[in-house]
Amino acid sequence: MAAQQVRGVIAPGKNEPVQVQTILVPDPGPGEAVVRVEACGVCHTDLHYKQGGISDDYPFLLGHEAAGVVESVGEGVSEVAPGDFVILNWRAVCGQCRACRRGRPWYCFDTHNAQQRMTLTDGTALSPALGIGAFAEKTLVAAGQCTKVDPSASPAVAGLLGCGVMAGIGAALNTGNVTRGDSVAVIGCGGVGAAAVVGSRLAGAARIIAVDIDDRKLDTARAMGATDTVNSRDTDPVEAIRALTGGFGADVVIEAVGRPETYKQAFYARDLAGTVVLVGVPTPEMTLDLPLLDVFGRGGALKSSWYGDCLPSRDFPMLIDLHQQGRIDLAAFVTETIALDDLEKAFARMHQGDVLRSVVML
Ligand code: APR
Ligand code: ZN
Ligand code: ZN
Repeated sequence: MAAQQVRGVIAPGKNEPVQVQTILVPDPGPGEAVVRVEACGVCHTDLHYKQGGISDDYPFLLGHEAAGVVESVGEGVSEVAPGDFVILNWRAVCGQCRACRRGRPWYCFDTHNAQQRMTLTDGTALSPALGIGAFAEKTLVAAGQCTKVDPSASPAVAGLLGCGVMAGIGAALNTGNVTRGDSVAVIGCGGVGAAAVVGSRLAGAARIIAVDIDDRKLDTARAMGATDTVNSRDTDPVEAIRALTGGFGADVVIEAVGRPETYKQAFYARDLAGTVVLVGVPTPEMTLDLPLLDVFGRGGALKSSWYGDCLPSRDFPMLIDLHQQGRIDLAAFVTETIALDDLEKAFARMHQGDVLRSVVML
């Protein structure tokens, strides 16, 4: 099978600096597609791959928040065709697993990726981040990982829906079921939390309380629709959220940090019978200690949100259309656009909290 050579960013080994390398991208086989990547956002998960926090299957081909144009498709592919503008997703639903068969494909337990491997020029197989690997001029994916959206949307904006922004919007809309009139608190307003603010506003939440320890993040959250902000470095966020909600707590509290202490804040900042949504991703050593009586006595729902419980085919085109109509502003998430060679710098800026998203343009 023929392969073409492109430039891509790999993580060669644990904590080693990333490298721009020549990648071999095979022609698409049955059910596969090759996508010419136009933009790919920098996400914490890429950094976690580099640091060894996800698996030891080095070398990784990083990048997974991407949009581009389908270049070629393999046998039997009917859902997309060359020339289609697509957002790449890491939830190509199988249609067969127990979740899919019960009509809950957003939980699909057997999502598809490409069968063939992209490699280095010496034949070393690459592990693509989240089955995508899009810090590359072209990438090979399962055709189901390509979701067609309005081609007039900006690639930098569209790509962000492929991961973090979708996770945040979906945490509010799909997992939290935020609806008109609700009070919502969002703890942690980075890219994911700010997107949860956008989702809550879209759903018609009456009060949206943004909580962070960084005033810059609170300013952007307010610009995106937060009605109130709390800097939890100097204020107890549980008391502040209760004070802003008649003493009761919010109907829905979205935790977008991924730490036990902020989860506890979310747990106690919610009204009786309210909902906590955990969309921040914890690390393996973290544990949670809560009085079981409070878990029972406060009632409601404690939920996790995987990828915003999104269904790419349903949610990506809808959100792009709303953006194109000016009803949500996804461009505000693109803090800077950078080149493929600048990924280490982008990781550093992300670590310092300087950006909502840096987006690599290809
Ligand atoms: N209380 C409140 N906010 C906090 C706290 C805290 N104790 N600690 C950190 N934060 C804020 C940071 O200031 C930052 O604004 O949480 C935000 C985290 O945002 P980012 O680092 O930009 O991360 P983001 O991309 O939004 O992802 C958030 O979701 O997908 C997961 O792995 C991801 O766990 C991460 C989380
Ligand atoms: Zn399935
Ligand atoms: Zn991501």
